[in-house]
Amino acid sequence: MTSPILLTGGTGTLGRFVAPLLRDAGCQLRVLSRRSHQSADGVEFVTGDLATGEGIAAAVDGVEAIVHCAGSSKGDEDKARNLVRAASRVGSPHLVYISVVGAERVPVVSGVDRAMFGYFASKRAAERVVADSGLPWTTLRATQFHDLMLTTARQMAKLPVIPVPSGVRFQPIDAGEVATRLMELALGEPSGIVPDLAGPRVYEMSELLRSYLRAVHRRRPIVPVRLPGRAARAIRDGANLAPERAVGDRTWEDFLAEHVRRDRSLGNA
Ligand SMILES: NC(=O)c1ccc[n+]([C@@H]2O[C@H](COP(=O)([O-])OP(=O)(O)OC[C@H]3O[C@@H](n4cnc5c(N)ncnc54)[C@H](OP(=O)(O)O)[C@@H]3O)[C@@H](O)[C@H]2O)c1
Repeated sequence: MTSPILLTGGTGTLGRFVAPLLRDAGCQLRVLSRRSHQSADGVEFVTGDLATGEGIAAAVDGVEAIVHCAGSSKGDEDKARNLVRAASRVGSPHLVYISVVGAERVPVVSGVDRAMFGYFASKRAAERVVADSGLPWTTLRATQFHDLMLTTARQMAKLPVIPVPSGVRFQPIDAGEVATRLMELALGEPSGIVPDLAGPRVYEMSELLRSYLRAVHRRRPIVPVRLPGRAARAIRDGANLAPERAVGDRTWEDFLAEHVRRDRSLGNA
């Protein structure tokens, strides 16, 4: 590629893996962040906010492709819309979007659904913005990253008694493996929705939590709670899983062992 690639979310969990892959593939890389960063190591940083649209016109100027990894628990539809609007004004870059497995299968209809699982609706809405953008596009849906499972387990383990949603399962995947796939997609042809990317094994939420507690030598009572609503039922039925696409290599056990070891060496565990 001769023109730059814009990477949104390049400072996040996933984007931090994507950035060096694109740079090492010889791409001219521009990374968007809400905070200012020193450009270095062949990466140009631009400041902008996708929620307000500020700075986005300059970020998309002259780019050949956009890898859109910026996201948060809410409002990804608006971020995608601001990005698409700015990109459409400057040309026709290939827009590569990362979504979540289950975005099209988790019904978010009530206030209860929205409070707990609004994220899936927001990703689905953003997917539609990308597909209807008029730009050439590719969307990859991935399952939850190991990092998110670890952050969740750490937070839950702070409670004296831990309520765990019963019947809820996850199929965590390594963010680095998702990044590799995104890099391939960004360098390839626009492909629409591509096959899901999911981790090597499905786990009950309680199993993930217990393995974390064991690894950090903590004991906590776990209390199962049944979540109300249609979205929760769909999740219990496995809407967030893709067992037929269990293509990830790195297991939760390997990821956990490495991170707990690292925390210990830093004196954090
Ligand atoms: N985590 C998961 O398990 C998972 C699973 C499947 C799909 N995904 C999707 O993968 C993407 C990346 O997730 P992640 O876990 O890497 O997220 P993350 O670690 O929370 O990072 C979020 C990134 O988004 C950027 N960002 C947030 N709001 C922004 C805004 N208004 N304008 C510009 N940039 C903004 C942040 O940049 P600055 O703070 O530098 O501005 C940061 O780089 C998201 O779209 C997420 O929905 C995540």
